[in-house]
Amino acid sequence: MRFFSMFGGLLLAGAALAQNTSCSPKSSDAAVVEYAYALQGLLERYYTSQPINQTFLQTATNGSRLEYYQNLLGIQRQNRLGVRALQVVGAKVPGYSNPRCNYSVPRASSGEQYVTIALGLEADVAAAFIGATAYTQSPEVSFILARLAAVHTADTTWLAAGQKGIIFPSNTSSLVPAFNPAYVLGLGNETGRLGRYLPNCVSAPSSPCDQPFFIGPLVGSVGNRTSAAAGPSSSVPSPSISPTAAARNRFAI
Ligand SMILES: *[C@@H]1O[C@H](CO)[C@@H](O)[C@H](O)[C@H]1NC(C)=O
Ligand SMILES: *[C@@H]1O[C@H](CO)[C@@H](O)[C@H](O)[C@H]1NC(C)=O
Ligand SMILES: *[C@@H]1O[C@H](CO)[C@@H](O)[C@H](O)[C@H]1NC(C)=O
Ligand SMILES: *[C@@H]1O[C@H](CO)[C@@H](O)[C@H](O)[C@H]1NC(C)=O
Ligand SMILES: *[C@@H]1O[C@H](CO)[C@@H](O)[C@H](O)[C@H]1NC(C)=O
Ligand SMILES: *[C@@H]1O[C@H](CO)[C@@H](O)[C@H](O)[C@H]1NC(C)=O
Ligand SMILES: *[C@@H]1O[C@H](CO)[C@@H](O)[C@H](O)[C@H]1NC(C)=O
Repeated sequence: MRFFSMFGGLLLAGAALAQNTSCSPKSSDAAVVEYAYALQGLLERYYTSQPINQTFLQTATNGSRLEYYQNLLGIQRQNRLGVRALQVVGAKVPGYSNPRCNYSVPRASSGEQYVTIALGLEADVAAAFIGATAYTQSPEVSFILARLAAVHTADTTWLAAGQKGIIFPSNTSSLVPAFNPAYVLGLGNETGRLGRYLPNCVSAPSSPCDQPFFIGPLVGSVGNRTSAAAGPSSSVPSPSISPTAAARNRFAI
Protein backbone atom coordinates (compact mmCIF):
# COMPACT_ATOMS: atom_id res chain seq x y z
CA MET A 1 0.00 0.00 0.00
CA ARG A 2 2.75 2.38 0.94
CA PHE A 3 4.60 1.51 -2.22
CA PHE A 4 1.59 2.38 -4.36
CA SER A 5 0.91 5.72 -2.68
CA MET A 6 4.56 6.68 -3.03
CA PHE A 7 4.59 5.64 -6.69
CA GLY A 8 1.43 7.69 -7.31
CA GLY A 9 3.14 10.70 -5.72
CA LEU A 10 6.10 10.37 -8.05
CA LEU A 11 3.82 10.24 -11.06
CA LEU A 12 2.05 13.40 -9.91
CA ALA A 13 5.30 15.22 -9.30
CA GLY A 14 6.33 14.31 -12.83
CA ALA A 15 3.03 15.48 -14.30
CA ALA A 16 3.31 18.86 -12.59
CA LEU A 17 6.41 19.74 -14.62
CA ALA A 18 5.90 20.89 -18.19
CA GLN A 19 7.91 18.84 -20.63
CA ASN A 20 10.94 20.65 -22.03
CA THR A 21 10.50 20.29 -25.78
CA SER A 22 14.20 20.90 -26.43
CA CYS A 23 14.75 17.41 -24.97
CA SER A 24 11.86 15.75 -26.86
CA PRO A 25 12.70 13.08 -29.42
CA LYS A 26 13.83 14.59 -32.74
CA SER A 27 12.98 13.44 -36.24
CA SER A 28 16.56 12.16 -36.49
CA ASP A 29 15.61 9.64 -33.78
CA ALA A 30 12.94 8.12 -36.03
CA ALA A 31 15.47 5.91 -37.83
CA VAL A 32 16.94 4.79 -34.49
CA VAL A 33 13.58 3.75 -33.04
CA GLU A 34 12.57 2.06 -36.31
CA TYR A 35 15.85 0.12 -36.25
CA ALA A 36 15.24 -0.87 -32.62
CA TYR A 37 11.67 -1.91 -33.45
CA ALA A 38 12.93 -4.16 -36.25
CA LEU A 39 15.41 -5.86 -33.89
CA GLN A 40 12.89 -6.31 -31.10
CA GLY A 41 10.34 -7.55 -33.63
CA LEU A 42 12.79 -10.16 -34.88
CA LEU A 43 12.96 -11.79 -31.46
CA GLU A 44 9.23 -11.41 -30.96
CA ARG A 45 8.73 -13.23 -34.25
CA TYR A 46 11.22 -15.97 -33.42
CA TYR A 47 9.55 -16.72 -30.10
CA THR A 48 6.01 -16.70 -31.49
CA SER A 49 6.41 -18.25 -34.95
CA GLN A 50 6.99 -21.67 -33.45
CA PRO A 51 4.75 -22.30 -30.44
CA ILE A 52 6.64 -24.12 -27.72
CA ASN A 53 5.55 -26.69 -25.16
CA GLN A 54 7.05 -28.78 -22.36
CA THR A 55 7.46 -31.87 -24.53
CA PHE A 56 9.45 -30.06 -27.19
CA LEU A 57 11.78 -28.42 -24.67
CA GLN A 58 12.31 -31.53 -22.54
CA THR A 59 14.81 -32.77 -25.09
CA ALA A 60 17.07 -29.75 -24.56
CA THR A 61 20.05 -30.59 -22.39
CA ASN A 62 19.98 -29.05 -18.92
CA GLY A 63 16.30 -28.28 -19.56
CA SER A 64 14.92 -29.47 -16.24
CA ARG A 65 17.46 -27.45 -14.26
CA LEU A 66 16.69 -24.31 -16.25
CA GLU A 67 12.89 -24.65 -16.38
CA TYR A 68 13.05 -23.77 -20.08
CA TYR A 69 9.33 -23.76 -20.72
CA GLN A 70 8.30 -21.37 -17.94
CA ASN A 71 11.29 -19.09 -18.42
CA LEU A 72 10.89 -18.88 -22.19
CA LEU A 73 7.24 -17.91 -21.71
CA GLY A 74 8.49 -15.08 -19.48
CA ILE A 75 11.07 -14.05 -22.08
CA GLN A 76 8.34 -14.01 -24.74
CA ARG A 77 6.28 -11.76 -22.51
CA GLN A 78 9.25 -9.41 -21.99
CA ASN A 79 9.71 -9.24 -25.73
CA ARG A 80 6.09 -8.26 -26.32
CA LEU A 81 6.44 -5.56 -23.66
CA GLY A 82 9.58 -4.32 -25.45
CA VAL A 83 7.72 -4.05 -28.76
CA ARG A 84 4.96 -2.12 -26.99
CA ALA A 85 7.51 0.21 -25.34
CA LEU A 86 9.06 1.03 -28.72
CA GLN A 87 5.61 1.78 -30.17
CA VAL A 88 4.95 4.17 -27.28
CA VAL A 89 8.31 5.93 -27.73
CA GLY A 90 7.98 5.89 -31.53
CA ALA A 91 4.62 7.66 -31.32
CA LYS A 92 6.43 10.67 -29.82
CA VAL A 93 9.10 10.83 -32.54
CA PRO A 94 8.31 13.04 -35.53
CA GLY A 95 8.34 11.02 -38.74
CA TYR A 96 8.33 7.61 -37.03
CA SER A 97 6.32 4.71 -38.42
CA ASN A 98 6.34 1.08 -37.28
CA PRO A 99 8.43 -0.79 -39.84
CA ARG A 100 6.69 -3.67 -41.58
CA CYS A 101 9.31 -6.34 -41.77
CA ASN A 102 8.99 -9.59 -43.62
CA TYR A 103 11.13 -11.46 -41.12
CA SER A 104 12.84 -14.59 -42.19
CA VAL A 105 13.27 -16.37 -38.87
CA PRO A 106 15.15 -19.62 -38.40
CA ARG A 107 13.09 -22.65 -37.45
CA ALA A 108 14.26 -25.17 -34.88
CA SER A 109 13.78 -28.88 -35.36
CA SER A 110 14.46 -29.75 -31.71
CA GLY A 111 14.24 -28.18 -28.29
CA GLU A 112 18.03 -28.16 -28.17
CA GLN A 113 18.24 -26.26 -31.44
CA TYR A 114 15.51 -23.87 -30.29
CA VAL A 115 17.52 -22.66 -27.31
CA THR A 116 20.76 -22.54 -29.32
CA ILE A 117 19.17 -20.26 -31.92
CA ALA A 118 17.58 -18.18 -29.14
CA LEU A 119 21.01 -17.67 -27.57
CA GLY A 120 22.55 -16.47 -30.85
CA LEU A 121 19.68 -14.08 -31.60
CA GLU A 122 19.50 -12.67 -28.07
CA ALA A 123 23.27 -12.08 -27.99
CA ASP A 124 23.28 -10.34 -31.38
CA VAL A 125 20.22 -8.22 -30.58
CA ALA A 126 21.73 -7.20 -27.22
CA ALA A 127 24.95 -6.11 -28.97
CA ALA A 128 22.92 -4.24 -31.61
CA PHE A 129 20.92 -2.35 -28.96
CA ILE A 130 24.09 -1.28 -27.20
CA GLY A 131 25.55 -0.07 -30.51
CA ALA A 132 22.34 1.84 -31.30
CA THR A 133 22.70 3.99 -28.17
CA ALA A 134 25.52 5.85 -29.96
CA TYR A 135 23.03 7.14 -32.55
CA THR A 136 20.40 8.86 -30.42
CA GLN A 137 19.53 12.52 -29.83
CA SER A 138 17.14 12.38 -26.90
CA PRO A 139 17.02 10.92 -23.38
CA GLU A 140 13.73 9.07 -23.97
CA VAL A 141 15.22 7.17 -26.88
CA SER A 142 18.53 6.32 -25.20
CA PHE A 143 16.59 5.20 -22.10
CA ILE A 144 14.51 2.57 -23.92
CA LEU A 145 17.56 1.33 -25.85
CA ALA A 146 19.57 0.88 -22.65
CA ARG A 147 16.67 -0.88 -20.95
CA LEU A 148 16.14 -3.32 -23.81
CA ALA A 149 19.89 -3.93 -24.10
CA ALA A 150 19.85 -4.92 -20.43
CA VAL A 151 16.89 -7.30 -20.94
CA HIS A 152 18.55 -9.02 -23.90
CA THR A 153 21.89 -9.26 -22.13
CA ALA A 154 20.16 -10.91 -19.17
CA ASP A 155 18.37 -13.35 -21.51
CA THR A 156 21.69 -14.09 -23.23
CA THR A 157 23.46 -14.82 -19.97
CA TRP A 158 20.72 -17.16 -18.79
CA LEU A 159 20.60 -19.03 -22.10
CA ALA A 160 24.40 -19.26 -22.24
CA ALA A 161 24.54 -20.65 -18.70
CA GLY A 162 22.48 -23.63 -19.87
CA GLN A 163 24.66 -24.29 -22.88
CA LYS A 164 28.25 -23.52 -21.88
CA GLY A 165 30.45 -24.30 -18.98
CA ILE A 166 32.30 -21.03 -18.58
CA ILE A 167 30.48 -17.93 -19.76
CA PHE A 168 32.59 -15.35 -17.94
CA PRO A 169 36.19 -16.13 -18.91
CA SER A 170 38.63 -14.68 -16.38
CA ASN A 171 41.01 -13.64 -19.15
CA THR A 172 38.47 -11.43 -20.95
CA SER A 173 39.84 -8.12 -22.17
CA SER A 174 36.60 -6.39 -23.07
CA LEU A 175 33.15 -5.41 -21.88
CA VAL A 176 29.97 -6.80 -23.41
CA PRO A 177 29.91 -6.86 -27.25
CA ALA A 178 28.42 -3.99 -29.25
CA PHE A 179 27.94 -3.50 -32.99
CA ASN A 180 27.12 -0.54 -35.20
CA PRO A 181 23.81 -0.58 -37.14
CA ALA A 182 25.37 -0.74 -40.62
CA TYR A 183 27.31 -3.84 -39.58
CA VAL A 184 24.29 -5.47 -37.93
CA LEU A 185 22.10 -4.98 -41.02
CA GLY A 186 24.74 -6.37 -43.36
CA LEU A 187 24.29 -9.78 -44.92
CA GLY A 188 26.52 -12.64 -43.90
CA ASN A 189 26.66 -14.92 -40.92
CA GLU A 190 29.43 -13.38 -38.82
CA THR A 191 28.76 -12.79 -35.12
CA GLY A 192 26.45 -9.82 -34.69
CA ARG A 193 25.02 -9.74 -38.21
CA LEU A 194 21.23 -9.91 -38.50
CA GLY A 195 20.53 -8.53 -41.99
CA ARG A 196 19.69 -11.94 -43.40
CA TYR A 197 16.70 -12.14 -41.04
CA LEU A 198 15.44 -8.61 -41.81
CA PRO A 199 15.54 -8.28 -45.59
CA ASN A 200 14.79 -4.72 -46.86
CA CYS A 201 13.13 -3.82 -43.60
CA VAL A 202 14.90 -0.79 -42.13
CA SER A 203 17.97 1.22 -42.96
CA ALA A 204 20.80 1.96 -40.57
CA PRO A 205 20.39 5.23 -38.66
CA SER A 206 23.10 7.75 -39.52
CA SER A 207 25.52 8.99 -36.91
CA PRO A 208 24.25 12.23 -35.35
CA CYS A 209 27.73 13.76 -35.71
CA ASP A 210 28.31 12.66 -39.32
CA GLN A 211 31.39 10.73 -38.25
CA PRO A 212 31.92 7.00 -37.86
CA PHE A 213 31.38 5.63 -34.39
CA PHE A 214 34.31 3.42 -33.38
CA ILE A 215 33.67 0.66 -30.86
CA GLY A 216 36.58 -0.60 -28.82
CA PRO A 217 36.92 -3.16 -26.03
CA LEU A 218 36.04 -0.67 -23.28
CA VAL A 219 34.74 2.55 -24.82
CA GLY A 220 33.33 3.94 -28.05
CA SER A 221 34.38 7.13 -29.78
CA VAL A 222 32.81 9.46 -32.32
CA GLY A 223 35.37 9.71 -35.08
CA ASN A 224 38.52 8.89 -33.08
CA ARG A 225 39.79 5.37 -33.62
CA THR A 226 42.73 5.83 -31.28
CA SER A 227 40.48 6.94 -28.47
CA ALA A 228 38.21 3.89 -28.96
CA ALA A 229 41.21 1.57 -28.79
CA ALA A 230 41.79 2.17 -25.07
CA GLY A 231 42.41 -1.25 -23.57
CA PRO A 232 42.33 -2.82 -20.12
CA SER A 233 45.98 -1.95 -19.55
CA SER A 234 48.82 -0.69 -21.67
CA SER A 235 50.51 -4.09 -21.58
CA VAL A 236 47.55 -5.93 -23.15
CA PRO A 237 47.15 -5.30 -26.89
CA SER A 238 43.65 -4.18 -27.87
CA PRO A 239 41.56 -6.19 -30.29
CA SER A 240 41.30 -4.48 -33.66
CA ILE A 241 39.00 -1.47 -33.85
CA SER A 242 36.81 -0.59 -36.76
CA PRO A 243 33.59 1.32 -37.27
CA THR A 244 31.81 -1.99 -37.43
CA ALA A 245 33.69 -4.04 -34.96
CA ALA A 246 33.43 -4.69 -31.32
CA ALA A 247 34.59 -6.58 -28.37
CA ARG A 248 33.37 -10.09 -28.95
CA ASN A 249 34.52 -12.40 -26.30
CA ARG A 250 32.40 -11.92 -23.25
CA PHE A 251 29.94 -14.72 -23.82
CA ALA A 252 32.40 -16.83 -25.71
CA ILE A 253 29.87 -17.57 -28.43
C1 LIG B 1 14.79 23.58 -21.78
O1 LIG B 1 16.15 23.18 -21.88
C2 LIG B 1 17.00 24.18 -22.47
C3 LIG B 1 18.40 23.56 -22.66
O2 LIG B 1 18.87 23.04 -21.47
C4 LIG B 1 17.02 25.42 -21.59
O3 LIG B 1 17.82 26.42 -22.18
C5 LIG B 1 15.59 25.94 -21.44
O4 LIG B 1 15.57 27.02 -20.53
C6 LIG B 1 14.66 24.83 -20.92
N1 LIG B 1 13.29 25.32 -20.98
C7 LIG B 1 12.40 25.13 -19.98
C8 LIG B 1 11.03 25.65 -20.23
O5 LIG B 1 12.69 24.54 -18.95
C1 LIG C 1 5.22 -28.90 -29.27
O1 LIG C 1 5.95 -27.91 -29.97
C2 LIG C 1 6.62 -28.39 -31.12
C3 LIG C 1 7.48 -27.24 -31.69
O2 LIG C 1 6.75 -26.12 -32.03
C4 LIG C 1 5.59 -28.90 -32.13
O3 LIG C 1 6.28 -29.42 -33.24
C5 LIG C 1 4.76 -29.98 -31.48
O4 LIG C 1 3.73 -30.38 -32.37
C6 LIG C 1 4.13 -29.47 -30.20
N1 LIG C 1 3.48 -30.58 -29.51
C7 LIG C 1 2.30 -30.45 -28.93
C8 LIG C 1 1.79 -31.65 -28.22
O5 LIG C 1 1.65 -29.42 -28.98
C1 LIG D 1 8.50 -12.52 -47.53
O1 LIG D 1 9.62 -13.37 -47.62
C2 LIG D 1 9.34 -14.63 -48.21
C3 LIG D 1 10.63 -15.45 -48.18
O2 LIG D 1 11.39 -15.22 -47.07
C4 LIG D 1 8.87 -14.43 -49.63
O3 LIG D 1 8.53 -15.69 -50.19
C5 LIG D 1 7.65 -13.51 -49.65
O4 LIG D 1 7.28 -13.22 -50.97
C6 LIG D 1 7.96 -12.21 -48.92
N1 LIG D 1 6.74 -11.41 -48.84
C7 LIG D 1 6.75 -10.09 -49.11
C8 LIG D 1 5.43 -9.40 -48.96
O5 LIG D 1 7.75 -9.48 -49.45
C1 LIG E 1 24.78 -28.14 -19.30
O1 LIG E 1 25.28 -27.23 -18.31
C2 LIG E 1 26.65 -27.40 -17.99
C3 LIG E 1 27.08 -26.44 -16.91
O2 LIG E 1 26.05 -25.87 -16.25
C4 LIG E 1 27.51 -27.14 -19.21
O3 LIG E 1 28.86 -27.39 -18.89
C5 LIG E 1 27.07 -28.04 -20.33
O4 LIG E 1 27.81 -27.67 -21.50
C6 LIG E 1 25.58 -27.90 -20.59
N1 LIG E 1 25.23 -28.85 -21.65
C7 LIG E 1 24.64 -28.50 -22.78
C8 LIG E 1 24.53 -29.54 -23.83
O5 LIG E 1 24.20 -27.39 -23.00
C1 LIG F 1 41.43 -17.27 -22.56
O1 LIG F 1 41.67 -18.59 -22.11
C2 LIG F 1 41.12 -19.63 -22.95
C3 LIG F 1 41.37 -20.98 -22.30
O2 LIG F 1 41.40 -20.89 -20.93
C4 LIG F 1 41.77 -19.56 -24.32
O3 LIG F 1 41.20 -20.54 -25.16
C5 LIG F 1 41.56 -18.19 -24.92
O4 LIG F 1 42.26 -18.08 -26.14
C6 LIG F 1 42.06 -17.09 -23.96
N1 LIG F 1 41.67 -15.80 -24.50
C7 LIG F 1 42.51 -14.75 -24.50
C8 LIG F 1 41.96 -13.49 -25.08
O5 LIG F 1 43.63 -14.83 -24.05
C1 LIG G 1 28.75 -18.77 -43.14
O1 LIG G 1 28.55 -18.67 -44.53
C2 LIG G 1 29.58 -19.29 -45.29
C3 LIG G 1 29.37 -18.98 -46.76
O2 LIG G 1 28.03 -18.72 -47.06
C4 LIG G 1 29.57 -20.79 -44.99
O3 LIG G 1 30.59 -21.42 -45.73
C5 LIG G 1 29.81 -21.00 -43.49
O4 LIG G 1 29.71 -22.36 -43.18
C6 LIG G 1 28.78 -20.23 -42.69
N1 LIG G 1 29.16 -20.31 -41.29
C7 LIG G 1 28.29 -20.58 -40.34
C8 LIG G 1 28.81 -20.59 -38.95
O5 LIG G 1 27.13 -20.82 -40.56
C1 LIG H 1 42.03 11.03 -30.39
O1 LIG H 1 42.17 10.39 -29.14
C2 LIG H 1 43.52 10.36 -28.67
C3 LIG H 1 43.54 9.45 -27.43
O2 LIG H 1 42.49 9.75 -26.57
C4 LIG H 1 43.97 11.78 -28.40
O3 LIG H 1 45.30 11.78 -27.94
C5 LIG H 1 43.87 12.57 -29.70
O4 LIG H 1 44.16 13.93 -29.45
C6 LIG H 1 42.46 12.47 -30.29
N1 LIG H 1 42.46 13.08 -31.61
C7 LIG H 1 41.60 14.02 -31.96
C8 LIG H 1 41.72 14.52 -33.38
O5 LIG H 1 40.75 14.45 -31.21
